[in-house]
Amino acid sequence: MPVQSNPVESAKPGRPPAGEGAKPAEPGGNGKAKSKGKEKGKGASGGVGSVGVFVKEIVLGHGTVGAIASSSAGLAREMVAGSGIENARCVVEYGPGVGAFTGEILAHLPKGARYFAIELSPRLADKFQTRFPDTRLYLGSAADAPELCRQEGMNGHSCVDIVFSGLPFASFGPELQATIIERTVQILRPGGLFVTFAYAGLSVCTAKGRGFRRLLPKHFDKVSRGKVVWWNLPPAFVYRCVK
Ligand SMILES: C[S@@+](CC[C@H](N)C(=O)[O-])C[C@H]1O[C@@H](n2cnc3c(N)ncnc32)[C@H](O)[C@@H]1O
Repeated sequence: MPVQSNPVESAKPGRPPAGEGAKPAEPGGNGKAKSKGKEKGKGASGGVGSVGVFVKEIVLGHGTVGAIASSSAGLAREMVAGSGIENARCVVEYGPGVGAFTGEILAHLPKGARYFAIELSPRLADKFQTRFPDTRLYLGSAADAPELCRQEGMNGHSCVDIVFSGLPFASFGPELQATIIERTVQILRPGGLFVTFAYAGLSVCTAKGRGFRRLLPKHFDKVSRGKVVWWNLPPAFVYRCVK
């Protein structure tokens, strides 16, 4: 299985996995208890201020960040707009990094809806939990989403309304792309939505970006593309995919 690590077990000894270390949200809660959808710190997204954090991840050679900076607030709004989140009962976020999309997601999540995030990088997971201390985060791979749904008390099949993804799919090989997409389809309910973004250039100029673009219609009934958000580093657009 082309998963970089066995996530929940990958935490360093002495440091609990983020998912276990996170305080569970209140039953039926959505993690807004303290953060109320706004993270501590500056601004709605990690933005340019997070360049140092991302560059450090890249330099450390993990090869899974796929970006030089956190996404902009404009891209976060574009991810959430029109997703129907106001009617969602369960929302999952892949690769939140330092939480560029999370504030926007939590701000629109209905009271009582369930939310959890899955982040591969322990460093970014730490920063995320500092900004969103009461929000559920699993340290692991999005490829383990069905198993993590089961850990959340769901059946791992057709149980999620919306998956928001911050994953750098254009940096992933075809196998990992396919594994994560297949498992996403597995957890989404019929009619559920997968929202992800792509950097405008990479989606057409690289083989992996083109491969990902071709993969989506094979797994979803409907795939649409949003406008390019130029105020993002690099400019990006959103894919909305309906199961
Ligand atoms: C391009 S960054 C985006 C971060 C944030 N969503 C944003 O838009 O600024 C990609 C994020 O996905 C995480 N990531 C990469 N592979 C992953 C995987 N298999 N499962 C979960 N997270 C992953 C990286 O650690 C990083 O935080």
